Amino acid sequence: MGNIVYITRRETFAASHRLSKPGLSDEENFKLFGKCSNPNWHGHNYTLEVIVAGEVDSETGFVMDLSELKEIVRTNVISKVDHKNLNLDTDFLKGINPTSENIAVAIWNELNEKITKGKLYSIKLYETENNYFEYKGEKT
Ligand code: NI
Repeated sequence: MGNIVYITRRETFAASHRLSKPGLSDEENFKLFGKCSNPNWHGHNYTLEVIVAGEVDSETGFVMDLSELKEIVRTNVISKVDHKNLNLDTDFLKGINPTSENIAVAIWNELNEKITKGKLYSIKLYETENNYFEYKGEKT
């Protein structure tokens, strides 16, 4: 019987965005999304945590090599969001209203199949110090 351990890679990125629904006026969007609907964008300093669960390999003592996880997260996510406009620049967010909920799901979808040792367990996205959003691949 193996031991299951959860390992976390933490990254930060800065990005701009606008929350809006197509077809609504700026005023209507403000009612729905508040300051995040500002027509000329605004930024957040995000923190991302990618958590992988797996059995400890008896040869290496690792679930997976954390430097490999770092590379996967940086190549597939951070390089596409850091200092970018999430509405315009990020391929995996095309056509998606970039709320933190939607960003967390999109990051899960980007990374899930690229984790080959252990299993992607959770994506945590911190929009501010006090608000974070977590996705574990669950569907209704
Ligand atoms: Ni915002």
